[in-house]
Amino acid sequence: MRLVSNSPHATEEIGFQIGTLLQTGDTVGLYGNLGSGKTVMVKGIARSFHIDSRDITSASFTIIAEYQTQPPFFHIDLYRITNDSELDSTGIWDCLGGNAISVIEWAEKLGDEVPEKFIAVHIDVLDDEQRALTIEGIDEKNWNYL
Ligand SMILES: Nc1ncnc2c1ncn2[C@@H]1O[C@H](COP(=O)(O)OP(=O)(O)OP(=O)(O)O)[C@@H](O)[C@H]1O
Ligand SMILES: [Mg+2]
Repeated sequence: MRLVSNSPHATEEIGFQIGTLLQTGDTVGLYGNLGSGKTVMVKGIARSFHIDSRDITSASFTIIAEYQTQPPFFHIDLYRITNDSELDSTGIWDCLGGNAISVIEWAEKLGDEVPEKFIAVHIDVLDDEQRALTIEGIDEKNWNYL
């Protein structure tokens, strides 16, 4: 599915809607350039798990931020990862799937190693305020946003 977002608020709201459709064990991979809106979308997804969006910050330095929600929520930012051995040493593979929900910024760094139950969201910058969002892997029957 392809949507156009016209504002950060709209991207956050679409993130919230995606969050409501997630099931335990799902991983959302966010693809897109610097400043495209990945963290904005994470805030919306996290809000659907009752995480205050102000608690979602750029995770680039911590790489993996864990929230003790039910289910556990992981916000992972792979921006600084440069190769597969660095990726493996983050411990990411112990986080994904299972009884958790995970959202990954810079999912490009996973290459082909995407986990099971993976939802891909590509964000393309169209102009200052417009983003094209391409969402793959979510059950579109339940998609009520539009
Ligand atoms: N439609 C839109 N959706 C999302 N963000 C938008 C939109 N229009 C403008 N913006 C702006 O784009 C920026 C997106 O920043 P954000 O931190 O979410 O990007 P990011 O993809 O996480 O970047 P990084 O790669 O550095 O982690 C914000 O300043 C936001 O206000
Ligand atoms: Mg970000």
